[in-house]
Amino acid sequence: MSESAIVQPQISHHLLLCATPTKVKCCDPSTGIASWNELKRVIRELGLENTKRPEGIVLRSKVDCLRVCERGPILVVWPDGIWYTEVTTDKIEPIVQQHIVQQQPIQKWIHKTTPFKTNSPLVE
Ligand code: FES
Repeated sequence: MSESAIVQPQISHHLLLCATPTKVKCCDPSTGIASWNELKRVIRELGLENTKRPEGIVLRSKVDCLRVCERGPILVVWPDGIWYTEVTTDKIEPIVQQHIVQQQPIQKWIHKTTPFKTNSPLVE
């Protein structure tokens, strides 16, 4: 690695939230944006964006549609491939605390699980 190479922080999780899709299908936009704002707040307040976090940082992205299109807002947690439905503001902090921080997904709220295949030649 050259001295000028940029070292990116390690990533522990990437959270994708369908909150304000172009075609309003899975939830009311006001419900979605409230969940998005709560997700940002909780991640920030728990220090999960800290680049010195030993487990890696937690990324979050607001996406247009995750192809579930009902019972939203929909939240998918990578790399676990765990999908939550009806992720209203009251569920954000429990999901982040239990799933991300304590590594205990909340089974009763899981819609489906779709793990990545692990035989990619690019993944160590
Ligand atoms: S509109 Fe939210 S998953 Fe499709």
